Amino acid sequence: MMGSAIASVLDRKDHDRSDILEMLQCSEEDAHQLYRKAAAVRNRSVGKQVFLRGLIEYSNICGKNCLYCGVRRDNQKIERYTLSREEVLEAAMTAYRLNFGSIAIQSGENSSKVFVDTIENLVTTIREMTGGKMGITLSLGEQSRETYQRWFDAGAHRYLLRIEASSEALYRRVHPDDDMHRYKKRLECLKIIQETGYQTGTGVMVGLPYQTMSDLADDIIFMRDFDIDMCGMGPFIEHSDTPLGARGTDNLFLRERFNLTLRMIAILRIIMKDINIVASTAMQTIDPAGREKAISCGANVVMPNLTPARFRAGYQIYEGKPGYREVNESNISGLNFDLIPGTTLGLGTWGDTPHFGRRLTGK
Ligand code: 5AD
Ligand code: SF4
Repeated sequence: MMGSAIASVLDRKDHDRSDILEMLQCSEEDAHQLYRKAAAVRNRSVGKQVFLRGLIEYSNICGKNCLYCGVRRDNQKIERYTLSREEVLEAAMTAYRLNFGSIAIQSGENSSKVFVDTIENLVTTIREMTGGKMGITLSLGEQSRETYQRWFDAGAHRYLLRIEASSEALYRRVHPDDDMHRYKKRLECLKIIQETGYQTGTGVMVGLPYQTMSDLADDIIFMRDFDIDMCGMGPFIEHSDTPLGARGTDNLFLRERFNLTLRMIAILRIIMKDINIVASTAMQTIDPAGREKAISCGANVVMPNLTPARFRAGYQIYEGKPGYREVNESNISGLNFDLIPGTTLGLGTWGDTPHFGRRLTGK
C-alpha cells in the first residue's frame, strides 16, 4: 500500500534507531513491503546470486559454557568428536568438486597448540589442493592475535565471530560470569579479526531470554557502526540440556522468533546494502523453507552441511537441527534448498562482497 507509514520509513535514505524500531514492530502486512524492499536492495547491491559455503563442523569439543548452547562444556550427554585430517580434506574436496567456491570451518572453542597447528595446516593444504581456488571462512571462536594472523597467512580470508548479543548487559545474562565469557574480550577479538585483514562477520541470536526490541535495534546499529562485511543471525532455539533451555519451548514463540529474524535480515540488508547475509540453518530448523524465506527477505548466502553424517548428532547446538542427508555429487539436492524465483546459484566463485573492497579503499 503506497503512502502507508512503513512506505515512508522504507523510502528514507538514512535510518535512525526509531526507524529500525518501527520496521521491527510494523504489522505483518507492512512487513511484506519491508521484505520486498530488502530483496530489491540485495539484487541491486550484491546481485541475484546465492553463494554457497560448504560447512565443515570440525569438532564439538568446546572450552566454553554458553548458557544457551547444546555443545557447552558441561553437557555430558553428547559424545565429543574431532574430525580427522582426511575427513576434513575429503569434505573440502567435495565442496570443490561441487563447485561451491568456498567452505566454512566451524568448531567448538579450543586454543590448544595442537588445535591451532592443525587448523593452520588444514588451511594451507586445502588451498594447495585446490590451486588456491577454494575460499576459506573460519568460525573458530576467540583466539589470540597471533593465531588469527597465522590462520590468515595460511590462506583463510573470512572470519565469523558472532557477538551473540551486542548489549553487554544481555551478553552477561546468557553467559556464565567468568573470564572465559567476557563481552569486552569478544569485542576485542572481533576488532583484531578486522585489523588482521579478514572479511569480518558477526551476528546475534534473535529471541533470547531477556532480549528486548531495543536490544535488537541496537544490534543492527552495532553491525552498521562496526562496518561488518558479513552477518549470520538466527533465532534462539531452546536446547533442553542447557540452563536456558531446560524448560523447553513453545512453537508459537519459535514462529515469532523466526518472523523477527526475517525482519532483522531485511532491515540489515536495507541499512548495510552490500554485505553478505546468511540464511541460517536455525531458520530451517523452525521452518523447512526457512532459508528460502530468508533469501526472499534479503539474505544471499547458504551453508550446506558437509560434515560426515555420522558426526552430526554430536553438533546439536540447538534441538532439531536438520541436515542429516548427505550432500554429494549425485545429490546436490541434498542441499535441501530450493532457489527462489529470480535468484541463481553463485557457483565457482568466492562470493566476496563489494562491501569489503570498498571498506579497504575507504570509498
Ligand atoms: N539457538 C540458536 N542458536 C544457537 N547458537 C548456539 N546455541 C544456540 C541456540 N540454542 C548459535 C550461536 C553460536 C553459533 C555457532 O550457534 O550464535 O555462535
Ligand atoms: Fe561453545 Fe560456541 Fe556453543 Fe558457546 S556457542 S558453548 S563457544 S560451541
